[in-house]
Order: sequence, then structure tokens, then C-alpha cells
Amino acid sequence: MNQLIDFLRGHASARQFTDQTISLKDERMILTTAQQSPTSSNLQGYSIIAIREQATKLRMSELCGNQQHIIDCPLFLVFCADLYRLRRVSERAGYPFFGEYTELFIVATVDTTLAAGRALMAAQAMGMGGVMVGAIRNHIAEVSEKLALPELVYPVMGMSLGYPSVEPKVKPRISLDGIRFAENYEPEKIDPAISEYDERLIQFGHLQGREVQPEKYPEFKGRYTWSEHTARRLANTSPTTRRPHMKHYLKSRGFILK
Ligand SMILES: Cc1cc2nc3c(=O)[nH]c(=O)nc-3n(C[C@H](O)[C@H](O)[C@H](O)COP(=O)(O)O)c2cc1C
Repeated sequence: MNQLIDFLRGHASARQFTDQTISLKDERMILTTAQQSPTSSNLQGYSIIAIREQATKLRMSELCGNQQHIIDCPLFLVFCADLYRLRRVSERAGYPFFGEYTELFIVATVDTTLAAGRALMAAQAMGMGGVMVGAIRNHIAEVSEKLALPELVYPVMGMSLGYPSVEPKVKPRISLDGIRFAENYEPEKIDPAISEYDERLIQFGHLQGREVQPEKYPEFKGRYTWSEHTARRLANTSPTTRRPHMKHYLKSRGFILK
């Protein structure tokens, strides 16, 4: 029990990998473990594309802002929300199907995310490491075409997995005081928690040399805190940050039409 808690509290994303491959047996163990995640009404609204071919990883990296770990990892997984299989279930049973409703989109997205979280945990428990890749949505139409995704299937996130070549550092989180509220939402707790976290993350040293768009803020002379970093991220108007294509893309694939 305590071992599991320690394990969970030791989570850190890994982005640097050795050359060691992941066997098909170990991949299967990771994914069947992930499959035991809770799933809304046992619908299991997701699919996973396992990519090992170097050429495909290269293409995925290009489409994900040239993230090097996608090329270096032995196994790149793409977790897709999937209503296509469920539509098939309804068709086979001779019932109507309502995949266009936003609620089913949420159901499939949540199921996918829960499974992805456990896949990463399972890999970590087996001595591997990895990182989730939201940048899979930077060029989501191209990714979908490359992976031959049918309608009612969309990539929620990628995941680079492998054996870490350096031990990743556990990153501190916002104090629970700014996250957990008693009985009702407590907005007054937010500012103190942000200020405290800014100080703590500076001590952690994680943000040094990682300024977001420094060329855009030449006048900035303050301390580069998590707030500054995060606010710049949120202010970033680049298409790969805002991903303005998502609404149209999802609708074109049959999601969120109602
Ligand atoms: C849905 C999701 C998408 C992410 N996408 C990326 C990504 O594209 N590239 C990357 O390097 N890290 C990505 N991350 C990793 C986060 O940056 C990381 O989890 C966060 O900074 C906290 O660090 P930690 O996981 O080491 O604790 C993603 C994480 C999540 C949950």
C-alpha cells in the first residue's frame, strides 16, 4: 500500500531514453493493465495505436513540433477517443446510435485519458518511463490521415515510452490549499497558493532557460516565475498552442455536433 503511494508520488515524465527496446510482451502488459482502468458504463470508448516503425515516429515527431523523444523512444502510443467501435456495436444490434452528442464525446475522452494515465503508470512500474504528448493535436488532421483513423475516432494524446537514460526529477505541484476547497469553491485561496508556488518553483530551478517567447517580451525585467511562464503560455497565439482547428476538426469527424 505505502509502496504504491510512494510510487505514485514519485511520478515524473521522462523524455530521454536508452536504446533498449520494449518487448511486445511488455507492451501487452502495459496496455492490458491500462484496460483495467475504470470506464464509463464499461463502454471502453478508446483505441490505442502502437507505433514502432522509425519512419512513422519521425513523421509523428514532425507533426508534434519536432519533439525529439518521439524519435528516440522505442514505443510511441497514440491514445484515441473512439466512438466508431461503439457505433458498430449499435449497428450490429440494430439500434440507433447518437455519437454526435457532446456528452458521448466527453465520455470517450475521459475513458481515453484514464487509460492513458494507467498505461504510463504501468510502464513506470515496469522500470520504464515516458511522457504524454498533447502536441499530437498540433496537426491532428495529418496525424489522423497517417494513422488511418476512421470518423468518430480522434487522437487525444500521444505517449513516448522507453527506458529512461536519466532519472527524471519529481516536479512540485501547487499547494493543496489552492486546489482543495471545503464544501464550496473558495476563490480567495487561489492568490496565496499561486504566490507560494511561484517561490517554490523558483527554488526548484525548473524554469531557468525555459522562457516562453523571450523575444516577445524584451522589456521584461521581473523574476521569471511559474505565473509568468504560465501566463505567457496562455497568451501565446501560435496555432500550435491555441489549436484553433480543433472545433472544426472534431465536427468534421462526427463529434460535438449536438
Ligand atoms: C495531456 C498531456 C499532454 C502533454 N503533452 C506534452 C508534450 O506534448 N510534450 C511534453 O514534453 N510534455 C507533455 N506533457 C507533460 C507535461 O509537461 C508534464 O506532465 C508536466 O509538466 C508535469 O511534469 P511531470 O509529469 O514530470 O510531473 C503533457 C502532459 C499531459 C498530461
